[in-house]
Amino acid sequence: MSSKILVANWKMNGSMAECIEYFDDLLSGAIPSPSAAQEAIVFCPSFPYLLPLQHRLIEDGFTLGAQGCSEFQEGAYTGEVAATMLKDVGCTHVLIGHSERRQHQNESNQICKAKLERAHDAGLTAIYCIGETKEDRESGNLEKVLSRQLLEGLSSSSTSKNTLIAYEPAWSIGTGLTPSLTNIQETHALIQSLLSKSPAMQEAKILYGGSVKATNAKNILSLTQVSGALIGGASLDPKNMAEIVKAANTLSDKAASFFNLRS
Ligand code: PGA
Repeated sequence: MSSKILVANWKMNGSMAECIEYFDDLLSGAIPSPSAAQEAIVFCPSFPYLLPLQHRLIEDGFTLGAQGCSEFQEGAYTGEVAATMLKDVGCTHVLIGHSERRQHQNESNQICKAKLERAHDAGLTAIYCIGETKEDRESGNLEKVLSRQLLEGLSSSSTSKNTLIAYEPAWSIGTGLTPSLTNIQETHALIQSLLSKSPAMQEAKILYGGSVKATNAKNILSLTQVSGALIGGASLDPKNMAEIVKAANTLSDKAASFFNLRS
């Protein structure tokens, strides 16, 4: 089985001291050696901690990601952060279209598309988040919503190499609720079939997000259609995160062999 990608979305949490302490604790929880985890474990702290954490993260073999970027290239956009700036401080990944942004910041599919373009122009890998609300699912609109998010949100610059899809049902985020494993599998297969219409995106990796934790990570990640996980709440606790990393490593040939090197 190929190696799984883990993305930790810290949202608006933590302090500088807590971030530093986090990595001491995480490493003491026996996780893969630095070179092993490259590309496989992405941490997305808040903007102010990106630069201070850059060396620590990269030294420890992790990858740095941001929680968002501006839809604009540069200029008079107070409070915005350009994709090129993220690249400048060592980011390789950026989250786009997270349901909290769609809900609280009115991030539309069209805005996501512009952000994806900016991210790709800057040489970043975009993690494009899609997912339905409870109402969408209950009213039988799952396929319609996902298909629209993909069709309207993905830019012409999007390829399987520079874009990861994160399927995150909005009703699962931060609630402790997850779809059944069969359901996750079916929805990932649906996304895969929607992506297959676009030659550039048909090989794109699809991550699952929404209440992933140490206790369910292995089952979710063992689904063949699931290429990795986007983890919010559980990633804030280094012990939980170490457990999730270990769960992923048991499924990944590459990471597992590196894991053995460290332990
Ligand atoms: P959660 O968040 O793991 O706390 O549900 C996931 C996310 O928002 O990406």
